[in-house]
Amino acid sequence: MKSYSKTLLITGGAGFIGSHVVRHFVRLYPDYLILNLDKLTYAGNLENLRDIEQATNYRFLRADIVDETEVFRLFRELRPEGVIHLAAESHVDRSISNPNAFIFTNIVGTINLLNAAREIWKDDWEGKRFYHISTDEVYGSLGEEGLFTERTAYDPRSPYSASKASSDHLVRAYHHTFGLPAVLSNCSNNYGPYQFPEKLIPLFINNIRNNKPLPVYGKGENVRDWLYVEDHARAIDLIFHQGRIGETYNIGGNNEWQNIALILKLCALMDDRLGRKAGDSEKLITYVKDRAGHDLRYAIDSSKLQRELGWAPSLQFEEGLALTVDWYLANQAWLEGVTSGDYQHYYERQYLQR
Ligand code: NAD
Ligand code: TYD
Repeated sequence: MKSYSKTLLITGGAGFIGSHVVRHFVRLYPDYLILNLDKLTYAGNLENLRDIEQATNYRFLRADIVDETEVFRLFRELRPEGVIHLAAESHVDRSISNPNAFIFTNIVGTINLLNAAREIWKDDWEGKRFYHISTDEVYGSLGEEGLFTERTAYDPRSPYSASKASSDHLVRAYHHTFGLPAVLSNCSNNYGPYQFPEKLIPLFINNIRNNKPLPVYGKGENVRDWLYVEDHARAIDLIFHQGRIGETYNIGGNNEWQNIALILKLCALMDDRLGRKAGDSEKLITYVKDRAGHDLRYAIDSSKLQRELGWAPSLQFEEGLALTVDWYLANQAWLEGVTSGDYQHYYERQYLQR
């Protein structure tokens, strides 16, 4: 059996960002054994990883991070030296309709991973690293001016961001109290291939394609800072390998868009790609009741990451959005599998019936 220089456990690797991170590490580090631990909730889709699932340095483990016994069993057996923790409930609207799932996965799940890492590393921290992936939403909502820095006080305002803030605090507490070698990052809104079509950009691409209404919350005036998902995966690689222990790094696209401006841009691009008359898709825009507690504006200052580790976004938004639209249009089978629910049978087909 091949021996690897490092065993790296990635949680949530079947989700949107996690699948890009898994693919990035499997391809770039053939010397690492990459373990993808995922429960496969509605957001987990192994079809996102079809292209690398046969790689010799990749294994999938179906497990729930809320299950403490199972988490400890896996850590004792597999003894990862590194953890990149992305598993989470991630959609704000779901956190408003069902907050409890967010408490279990995002808070209890994170503490289970922290305890298990602490046990197997047993204060011999040499070469070990626990990397917690978080969101800019923990900082709350900005007015028209200013940017979130790593020193901005936490002010989470949705059950999702409150549960992520709680997990961030626990990771820092384990670093300060027990010396756990932890590093964190807080990123702005991601977009790109394999995003579940409940989030703004893939939902609207799918609805435009099917001539369905585009539900714009409130007046569409909220502002988000968008980053192409592969740029996030590159930042995660840099921070995992070179980020300073105990530090937090903000990651953002320096790319703010008011929702309605982004939606109009997306409609124009879709008109072009679908051969529709200019202005056709924007007729689908429908203003609907605003999201409860809707944060007005997020914007990230990522200068620390740029200065310390030399990271910068690689794509302009126009390029990234075009790549994203073209990917969804070229991968309609993926989109149909997701919207019909068929993807949920992939695990049984691929892993249980062989
Ligand atoms: P996602 O919802 O697409 O994927 C989450 C993954 O976690 C899924 O594969 C799901 O099956 C898995 N999961 C959920 N509960 C689990 C549990 N109890 N045990 C094991 N696995 C479980 O999420 P995403 O958008 O890829 O986000 C990944 C991480 O990045 C999250 O921690 C999120 O807070 C953070 N983040 C996301 C964004 C964004 O724009 N999407 C921005 C910044 C930070
Ligand atoms: P979303 O993709 O859910 O990300 P987040 O809430 O984590 O930023 O939403 C992005 C923005 O788009 C946010 O301001 C809410 C808005 N939005 C709509 O107007 N309509 C929708 O159907 C969705 C899903 C989001």
